[in-house]
Amino acid sequence: MTGVVFTKRLTLGRTLLACALLTLLASGVRSAEDGFGTELMQSIEDSNKSLASNIALKEAKGANADAKELADMFAKVQTYYAQKGDAADAVELARKCHDLTLKIQSSVTANDYSTATGAATDLSRTCKTCHNFYKKS
Ligand code: HEC
Repeated sequence: MTGVVFTKRLTLGRTLLACALLTLLASGVRSAEDGFGTELMQSIEDSNKSLASNIALKEAKGANADAKELADMFAKVQTYYAQKGDAADAVELARKCHDLTLKIQSSVTANDYSTATGAATDLSRTCKTCHNFYKKS
């Protein structure tokens, strides 16, 4: 008899633990989604401004650091939209932004600031294209 009660308690305990874990996981996913919109985009905005001024000043080190940060962040944006599904254009635009930041890194390293400036202009244009389609406000 005590054995049965014990087993039941154990099962209940496991169920509660599983529920707690699921809730934790679910809230983790939700906050990651919330973080996408404002925090990640604000960081992208800051790095993009810094990148533009570093390219204008021909500050290779700063420009490369900004472009690298942007590459990482756009990889996240791309993954977000790929997992979300039903947003092929957003995946493609994020990929384009990512590739442009790589192009900026290689041209800055080669001291080719006219190519870097062109790519940075392209990049800012691509931000706007995505916002036109996917940003609600
Ligand atoms: C793949 C699509 C996409 C690309 C590319 C993109 N954005 Fe965004 N951006 C969004 C979406 C969607 C929002 C709205 C998020 C929300 O409000 O939840 C947003 C919002 C923003 C915001 C407003 C954040 C806030 O505080 O509300 C800024 C600033 C921003 N983006 C800057 C940029 C810059 C700069 C670039 C390019 C270097 C860029 N974005 C590229 C999709 C994109």
